[in-house]
Formats: sequence, C-alpha cells, structure tokens
Amino acid sequence: MNKEKTKILVTGGLGFIGSHTVVELQNEGFEVVIIDDLSNSKIEVLDGITSITGIKPEFVQLDLKDKNLVKDFFENHKINGVIHFAASKAVGESVEQPLKYYENNIATLVYLLQEMVKNEVYNFIFSSSCTVYGQADELPITENAPIKSAESPYGNTKQMGEEIITDTTKASNLQAIALRYFNPIGGHESIKIGELPIGVPQNLIPFVTQTAAGIRKELLVFGDDYPTDDGTAIRDYIHVVDLAKAHISALKRLITESNKNKMEFFNIGTGKGSSVLEVIKAFEKVSNKKLNYKIVGRREGDIVSAYADTTLANNELDWYAKLTLEDALESAWKWQLKQV
Ligand code: WQD
Repeated sequence: MNKEKTKILVTGGLGFIGSHTVVELQNEGFEVVIIDDLSNSKIEVLDGITSITGIKPEFVQLDLKDKNLVKDFFENHKINGVIHFAASKAVGESVEQPLKYYENNIATLVYLLQEMVKNEVYNFIFSSSCTVYGQADELPITENAPIKSAESPYGNTKQMGEEIITDTTKASNLQAIALRYFNPIGGHESIKIGELPIGVPQNLIPFVTQTAAGIRKELLVFGDDYPTDDGTAIRDYIHVVDLAKAHISALKRLITESNKNKMEFFNIGTGKGSSVLEVIKAFEKVSNKKLNYKIVGRREGDIVSAYADTTLANNELDWYAKLTLEDALESAWKWQLKQV
C-alpha cells in the first residue's frame, strides 16, 4: 500500500476521537485533510496535533450541512478514503432537540456519501456506538447482538447511519466499516490533545477530572441500585489512543481490500466492564486525590451494563486494546491539570 499517496479525509478531525485518530494516521504515513465546523471543537487542537507529529494536517472549516460546500470540497480534493466522526453526540440534548440531531448526523452523512460515490471515493469508516445495542441481553456484547430500538435520537442516528451506509454499499462500489465504540476516555501521552467538553460535561470522566480539579463541586453518581456488585452501572472504558488505532486497522483492511463483506461492523472496547464506583476508586489511586461525590437517583435512559466481546476485532483487524483503565484515567487527569 503506497501510503504516501494515500490522502484521508477525517471529518470532525479536531474533535476528541478525531484528533487522536489524525495523529495515528500521520504516524502511519497517511496524508490527512480535516473537515471540522468548530461547533464542538477548538482550532488550537490543530496545533496540538502538529506539535505531536511535526506535520500540520490540511484543515478546511466547513459545515457538512451545506451540500454545495461538500460538493466543492470533493471537486477540489483527490482523496482515497474517509473517516467520518463529525456528528452531534450528547444523548440528553438529542432528546430535547431531535431535529438538530437528524439534520446534523443524518443529512450530513447523506451529502458526504453522495459526493464520495460521485467522485469514486470508496473507503469509508463510520463512527458508530455500542448504544445501538441498547441494554444487550447477553454480556459481553458481540456484533451479532440484536439492534434494539434506540433510547434516544442520538442513538437512533447511529442506527440509521449504519443502515444508510449499508444500503449505499449495496447500490455502489462503496465499502465500509462501522466501528461501534464503547466508552472512549483519556488522552494522548504527550498531554497535547485530550477531551475538551464545552460547557458542563455530560460524560463521567471529564466530570470526574473537573471535580478533582475543583471546577465542579461534586460528582453526582447516577444510581447505586442497579443489579451489579456495587449497585452502580457498568461500562467498557477504552483509552482513546487504542480506539484511534482501531481506525487505522480498519482503514488498512479496506485499502488492501481484505474486508470480507462490503459492510462490516466491529465492537471496539477493552472487553472489561468497570462500575462507576470502581472508576472513582481507580481515579483516586492514579490522582492520589479523594473525589467528592454523592449518590443520587438514576439518569433517564441509562442502561445497567455494557462491555464488549472484542474477538472479531482481534481476529479480523488484528487489533487489541493495550492500555488500561488506569492509563486512561492518568492521562485524563494530566490533561485536566494542563487546562487553564
Ligand atoms: C457512563 C456512566 C452514567 C456522568 C454515552 C453515550 C455513548 C457515548 C458515550 C458518544 C453511566 C455514569 C455519568 C455523571 C454518572 N457517546 N455517570 N455521573 O452514558 O455510557 O455513553 O456517552 O460517543 O454513545 O451513550 O457515558 O460517560 O455519560 O456515563 O454517574 O456525572 O457514568 O450513569 O453509568 P454513557 P457516560
């Protein structure tokens, strides 16, 4: 594979997972162009990426909701593949503003795919989520677990996105891989990029680090009456760098035409579940700080437990999560301490 000639578009490339994936793409010798509308990311992330790899990715500030701008982009860029992160991702917000989510997550995907097919760009990696499984009946969760009706418009946009892509692969030469992420956390070891939630964090780890840093008064633990060992909900927290590397493995699979189907799905997690209280304990250990938290009622829409069966990704992508929960929490804490 002539990587020097392989130019990859990363949409949402200044976001949390996108920026870490750009770093890994550049480390692997790919040329990268980023599209980001900066609605949920900061331009400084471009400097962070550049300071890690020494290569400044091409950056185009562009709103994928503007169909004509997407068309112009593809007319002016010869690319070999797309990794698509750009989307709104807050579960709670999606319940309050469903149309914002259907426009920003679905209309943009359609415009992107239309231009890819028209310009014969046939390698596509899609950012999906374990949320498509809802509360799985069996754990760990395999890719054959049934897709349950979505608990939120956000989750629905991931399910619909997968279906739209699947249908497009059937009607064109497009070949695609959907990576179903579990819970991405942590940041790059250089502490030059990490998670940058804008406003009050919705997710657990940024809320934990902001509480430990004194930005938030206390962490509210949403429920300790779940049917788990310690009563708190269980998730599969995967280091964002391991997750980023899974995208490279998936991209190489398509570029070398090693995929076995035109549309493939892989669960990307560590395979290990951790409860909220276990995460808190691990964080206190790595940060050497006592975390101020209070147990409150369950959060609407939360599931009890989710962790991945990663056999398929291990065997087919030759990809393995290598970093631990503690590694991720340590990098998240170091990143938090760097924030002014
Ligand atoms: C994790 C656990 C909470 C905050 C969601 C989306 C998923 C992906 C990641 C985008 C749960 C508990 C949380 C807090 C808490 N989104 N919690 N207090 O809900 O598993 O997944 O975010 O890519 O698609 O569904 O992640 O980090 O919000 O919650 O007790 O202040 O932490 O109840 O058990 P979640 P989360």
